[in-house]
Amino acid sequence: MIQIEGGRPLVGEIKSPSSKNAALAVFSAVLVGDGISVMTNVPEIADLQIKAQLLEMFGVKIARTADGMEIDCRELRDVLPDADVVRKIRTSFYMLGPLLARNGRVTMPAPGGCNIGARPVDYHIRGLEAMGAQIDLVDGNYVAQADNLVGAKIHFDFPSAGATQHLMTTACLAEGPTVISNAATEPEVTALADFLVRMDASIEGAGTDKITINGRCRLNGAQFRIPFDRMQAGTYLMAGAMTGGEVTIKDVLPEHLSSVLMKLEEAGAEVEEGHDYVRVSGPERLKAVNVMTMPHPGFPTDLQQPVVAMLSVADGTSIVEETIYENRIGHINQLHRMGAKIELKGGNVSIITGVESLSGTSVEATDLRAGASLVLAGLAAQGETTISNVHFIDRGYENLEDNLAQLGATVRRVPLDETNSPKEALYKP
Ligand code: EPU
Repeated sequence: MIQIEGGRPLVGEIKSPSSKNAALAVFSAVLVGDGISVMTNVPEIADLQIKAQLLEMFGVKIARTADGMEIDCRELRDVLPDADVVRKIRTSFYMLGPLLARNGRVTMPAPGGCNIGARPVDYHIRGLEAMGAQIDLVDGNYVAQADNLVGAKIHFDFPSAGATQHLMTTACLAEGPTVISNAATEPEVTALADFLVRMDASIEGAGTDKITINGRCRLNGAQFRIPFDRMQAGTYLMAGAMTGGEVTIKDVLPEHLSSVLMKLEEAGAEVEEGHDYVRVSGPERLKAVNVMTMPHPGFPTDLQQPVVAMLSVADGTSIVEETIYENRIGHINQLHRMGAKIELKGGNVSIITGVESLSGTSVEATDLRAGASLVLAGLAAQGETTISNVHFIDRGYENLEDNLAQLGATVRRVPLDETNSPKEALYKP
């Protein structure tokens, strides 16, 4: 559990943690390189540890270095990985194409991930089939085979970040050109393309909605520095804005945070953008604003739950519409427990009547970003907030307590064995 003594402005400067989603994509893509890749600025988060565990199941050798990992993908094994580990993260599935390209066959249990709505993999399957793979679902496992992958024309109905990353990576080892249209333009896609090009892949157009890949028969390992995490940076900036504080995040590319910074300004925060930093100062109370989540460069769905917490203490009525997932709402019941006034319409639209202050109480994280939303609420609330199920937050937030403490928050992690002590018993619902 995490305990937060709220109601204080957050003030200070931190370095942005590195990106969960870029790292997870790159840690699938290492598999297309017949060599050793060297990663630096690797985030210390639970999801990446699971990814490393999966790589090792497939025969990859991983050595920890001072600030990263050396990943040796020269010899791969054809094994059925442990389904319980595979289901812990969605990006296990993004290893299927690279393994297929290297080994000619692969069996992969269906993936998991946060409980935020249906998360099909149909675009991934159709794309791989267009490249010549034969894929069957047998007893809950995807069994894929291909003698030789060939380049294909792929069009997405919706610009899926994961399918763009997975198919772009696989196409690097397919014979001939692949063109992906209506591709996702997320910075994590561009980061992945940078890594693949360092491995000697030929990719044009990453970051636009049309990506062309000219497959090669062999790629090498490469060195790569994982970029900053837009979602963690955005969360800390919101924390500064909603507590009337001033937070500076260093080591970021401000243009990757544009949609979030514009909303913060619209809500009355002051935003200063430098070459590699962003500073946000909050007024005494933010104003209500409307937000609609969209694929990049729109407002990211991963900050929808945090922004609802932020707006729950803004002056006026805000409307936040989630358009990417149908069930990203686990935070709402918990925010109600803290005194937030949020009405949910149609399952995905939050109508938020800002209250002057929230009150700390015991709440439960139901998924990663719901957890981040409750942390923000706890920082702004009067009194003490105890957030349980912190393992969800650990999936994607690195050194959360240290970073918050550096910004002046009073926050501590309560080990499970302390929760039976008389003091902790007080916080039980
Ligand atoms: N979709 C399909 N079929 C597919 C793939 C996607 O219908 O085969 C739909 C999804 O159901 C969803 C939409 O397309 O409605 C977008 O999904 P996308 O594929 O873009 O999401 P993802 O790749 O599974 C990544 C991030 C998510 C983030 C989304 C959107 C990782 C590991 N995950 O997921 O991050 O919300 O892109 O930006 O990169 C998080 O970090 O909390 C998180 C959930």
